[in-house]
Amino acid sequence: MSRHTRIKRRTAPAIAAMKGGVPIVSLTAYSACMASLVDPHVDFILVGDSLGMVAHGMDSTTPVSLDLMIAHGRAVVSGTSKALIIVDMPFGSYEESPESAFRNAARILKETGCGAVKLEGGARCAETIRFLVERGIPVMGHIGLTPQSTHVMGGFKTQGRDRDTWPDHQADAQAVAQAGAFAVVLEGMVEELAAKLTQEIAIPTIGIGASPACDGQILVLEDMLGITRNPPKFVKVFADIGSQIDTAVERYAQSVKDRRFPTEDQTYR
Ligand code: KIV
Repeated sequence: MSRHTRIKRRTAPAIAAMKGGVPIVSLTAYSACMASLVDPHVDFILVGDSLGMVAHGMDSTTPVSLDLMIAHGRAVVSGTSKALIIVDMPFGSYEESPESAFRNAARILKETGCGAVKLEGGARCAETIRFLVERGIPVMGHIGLTPQSTHVMGGFKTQGRDRDTWPDHQADAQAVAQAGAFAVVLEGMVEELAAKLTQEIAIPTIGIGASPACDGQILVLEDMLGITRNPPKFVKVFADIGSQIDTAVERYAQSVKDRRFPTEDQTYR
């Protein structure tokens, strides 16, 4: 046996056990390089299908394919050692039947080495979540504003403004928890509703544009680094890396034009 102490990755049950305790910290990442910077600081990393827009310039998450999620998932797993890696199931990969969802989720786990998948939807997905969990696939739920359904939702709208809709959100949260999900993302939801759901269900809630009362928070990495243009209103930019990149690239361009770069030492390493 190796004399080195292997740092064990967080697991889905370890995240579930954090319910009601120290808030769960998470971010998205799509590449090995960025994931390795995030890894020491978070409990889990989500390879979100937001990569369609952020990394591939798509208009929505709808065109994201299973193969694309697997390619990015594999990269993120290879760049990390500590955080649980969760890979999003893209639109069209889990809605048809629990059996086809299982086949696709199994591909994600086998081909990326990740520890869990995430899928969008509440009560309507409960049967699929149960089917996957009973067959060994940890599932994170995602309710409230679900970007894959914005065509039927009529756009990116904060959920729960009308109190009459709360029972539906409560039923979704309970259905996902009772089906065996280990945690659930609450996206784009009025704060009071997100806090209420957090109190009512037995699994951790992970908020994004929801409430500080959630059991944890997630942000799209490029949003909080100030790299994406027009991030959602709720996003706090923790460092303006976008303008730092702009300055660095401008300096580089100028030094190439002035023949100040490369310098004389051209040793490769
Ligand atoms: O795709 C994604 O990045 C997500 C998060 C916003 C939760 O689902």
